Amino acid sequence: MIGVTKRFPGVIANQDVHLVVHRGEIHALLGENGAGKSTLMNVLAGLYLPEAGQIRINGRPVTINSPKEAFAQGIAMVHQHFKLVRNQTVAENVILGLDDPRFHLDMEKVGRRIREVGQQYNMDVDPDAYIWQLSVGEQQRVEILKALYRGAEILILDEPTAVLTPQEAIALGNTMRRMVEEGKTIIFISHKLDEVTRFADRVTVLRKGRVVAEEPVTEETSTSHLARLMVGREVVFRIEKEPVDPGEVRLEVEELEALNEKRLPALRQVSFQIRAGEILGIAGVAGNGQKELAEVITGLRRATGGRFRLDGQDLTNAHPRKIIDAGIAHIPESRIYTGSVGAMTVMENIALKHYTRTPGPFLDKRRLTELSLRLVEEFHVDTPGITTSAGSLSGGNLQKLILARELSLNPRLIVAAYPTQGLDVGATEAIRNRLLDQQKEGVAVLLISEDLDELFSLSDRIAVMFDGRIMGIVDARSASREEIGLMMTGKKASAPA
Ligand SMILES: Nc1ncnc2c1ncn2[C@@H]1O[C@H](COP(=O)(O)OP(=O)(O)OP(=O)(O)O)[C@@H](O)[C@H]1O
Ligand SMILES: [Mg+2]
Repeated sequence: MIGVTKRFPGVIANQDVHLVVHRGEIHALLGENGAGKSTLMNVLAGLYLPEAGQIRINGRPVTINSPKEAFAQGIAMVHQHFKLVRNQTVAENVILGLDDPRFHLDMEKVGRRIREVGQQYNMDVDPDAYIWQLSVGEQQRVEILKALYRGAEILILDEPTAVLTPQEAIALGNTMRRMVEEGKTIIFISHKLDEVTRFADRVTVLRKGRVVAEEPVTEETSTSHLARLMVGREVVFRIEKEPVDPGEVRLEVEELEALNEKRLPALRQVSFQIRAGEILGIAGVAGNGQKELAEVITGLRRATGGRFRLDGQDLTNAHPRKIIDAGIAHIPESRIYTGSVGAMTVMENIALKHYTRTPGPFLDKRRLTELSLRLVEEFHVDTPGITTSAGSLSGGNLQKLILARELSLNPRLIVAAYPTQGLDVGATEAIRNRLLDQQKEGVAVLLISEDLDELFSLSDRIAVMFDGRIMGIVDARSASREEIGLMMTGKKASAPA
């Protein structure tokens, strides 16, 4: 890509960008939230037309005016937010939009071919499964298979590991290796710098829409070096957790039970308590009930047994609005589907939760404007304004917006699922410190994360979930990673905290 410039109203997302990617390499694209990574890749994938610049493939200038034309050049993109049809099968999604009309395709053959491609690249997926039945990691495999099935040569992966478990991320790394060994080319966006040092051959760094560095990734490349390139100054990864004296029991969960989408038990007799001013971390490989736990407590999923109380008030199966009013904030796992409405403005998304607290049917526009401006500023949400549609924010900035909204509700309990997913290094640090500030003010926090660093640096106690059960709850100051790791695979805790 040569001299690519792409503007949006009020924003220059890419300015005179040169990006050179060699065949057979894993090329990492780095930059802070809003630096222009997704935009640049959307230009390459034919979704956006740039105002200036040229794209050359194998030295030949090409015009790419649509995803179809990009694909004719062998370019396919797996987006930050998947674009699968949930009520169709894997096989149906894979062939969706292919030129051959569907009835001409032998679905059994399609299924066989999907299995073959899956095996070739170490990605196990059932072609007959419906998308809604799949975990996020499996859905991502479908997206990648879809591209490979169609013979993609240049594969763009936009934050593919943000939603993956550490194990899945390593598996994906191995799949990417195999793909480049077979001559394919991968452009890979990630905020997880250790993945970049581990998987990438070269890196290009964007800052505010411009390329600020382009270099090989070697054994000597450190994550702090990459962070410095991105941010433009030294970054200290430091979280100061001061001892906090927990108060009264705030959240009390008793033998909670619930079912998952497949109507199988997702929570089995889950019991724990969180005190005011305490952070309870929930560790576990995704898919072991964490999501369902968060949903039951925020009123988005029915409990089939047991109960939970907030400050003594039983809220089991209460209406979500009642739960919000009682002071439970929710930073959901999927910000796009449950966290925000893309077609609404930044301000309207903030109003979504605040209006339940405003008396009368109409919002006080002036107060909402003030609040929105304050939140955008305080949480560094990078947006041209508060009347910009939330859907046009960069992935990380959308997330900051939801965090800002939830924390501004003055909650008594925050249920935070993967709160730093998709955030750049600086924003991650800021959000972690915010959660600690909340704790100091006496807020209870239920922190769901797969990042052990995050869990250890924030939590007072850590509960480990496996197969819908709490395997044990340990003191975060004395627990070892090995112990937690073992419990994550189903072993009981030795000494409960
Ligand atoms: N469709 C759009 N309409 C208007 N502005 C947009 C649109 N897409 C992106 N932008 C703006 O362009 C800039 C770059 O956004 P982009 O999504 O490329 O960032 P990014 O580097 O991918 O960030 P993140 O790490 O948060 O995903 C941001 O300021 C964003 O708000
Ligand atoms: Mg992005």
